Amino acid sequence: MQLETTINGRPVPLTFAAGEFLSETLRRYGYLSVKEGCDTGSCGLCTVWLDGSPVLSCSTLTARCGGKEITTIEALQTEAEEFGRFMVAEGAEQCGFCAPGFTLTVLAMKRELVDPDEKEISHYLAGNLCRCSGYQGQMRAIKKYMGVK
Ligand code: FES
Repeated sequence: MQLETTINGRPVPLTFAAGEFLSETLRRYGYLSVKEGCDTGSCGLCTVWLDGSPVLSCSTLTARCGGKEITTIEALQTEAEEFGRFMVAEGAEQCGFCAPGFTLTVLAMKRELVDPDEKEISHYLAGNLCRCSGYQGQMRAIKKYMGVK
């Protein structure tokens, strides 16, 4: 199968097998920041943006992405580095395997939520798991990054 997409601001025609999921397609095309963890829509490692909203690419059929804008963390390097500095300052960056998907979700949250409280932040991040931490350092980093108390 074939379709046209835009990936990180550039038109990209994709060729893929019927039933293939977006995470597999993106990795095959060299977007290796897209990680695969559970492969069942439970961990959030595979998060990318589809038309500006975070989606789990392991659960998104590539066939449904025709004409869509796909964004991986490679396109958001400056913002990702800025957020990363907040994570480091709070001692929240550990093995880093969840970082691309987690960071994409945080960057989307910053665009979407205004002055969120901890409950709203936790709800937004519910699909992104980190096996290293207890989430407290991440919560501190996110609140400082978003400028909320
Ligand atoms: Fe997609 Fe875990 S790999 S949610």
